[in-house]
Amino acid sequence: MSHYRVGQGWDTHRLAAGRALILGGVTVQSDLGLEGHSDADILTHAITDALLGAAALGDIGMHFPNTDPLWKDTKSAVFLGHALTLVHQAGYELVNVDSTVILERPKLKEYRMPIRESLAATLRIPLDCVSVKFKTAEGEGPVGERRTAEAQAIVTLRRMEP
Ligand code: C5P
Ligand code: MG
Repeated sequence: MSHYRVGQGWDTHRLAAGRALILGGVTVQSDLGLEGHSDADILTHAITDALLGAAALGDIGMHFPNTDPLWKDTKSAVFLGHALTLVHQAGYELVNVDSTVILERPKLKEYRMPIRESLAATLRIPLDCVSVKFKTAEGEGPVGERRTAEAQAIVTLRRMEP
């Protein structure tokens, strides 16, 4: 049996006025926010799918259907924490996370540390094991036109000693 596993995740949500922009559990000051059934935290959703994917445990919609009123307006940290528990139950521990948020505006650099701290706390791993990167879409496509934002994530899991 392999000692290491990798998993990737991706998410996108529409941007809209009158919604909060929450990334990795941190509220970002912005004129537009993310629309969705939950808090629409694309970064947390991408990391949740990466965790589930690394352990071949399906995807976020399988565990938290967005048609279920139980999950309406749920903080996405709840999804991430649950995915981590499932990974532990499958016999793996999380080694590191790398991720990218693709958002045209606002600039996110000043939020890097709070977002990393928030994710590291939920994931219960050291800060230097959580990486968050930011990109624009250079004004092109739905992200560039500020109709949507996207997030991508990759994780490494290590098999726990019995
Ligand atoms: O997309 P672009 O290559 O122009 O991004 C340059 C840098 O700007 C990124 O490496 C990142 O540090 C920063 N950035 C940001 N917030 C965004 C997009 C990019 O801080 N929304
Ligand atoms: Mg989502």
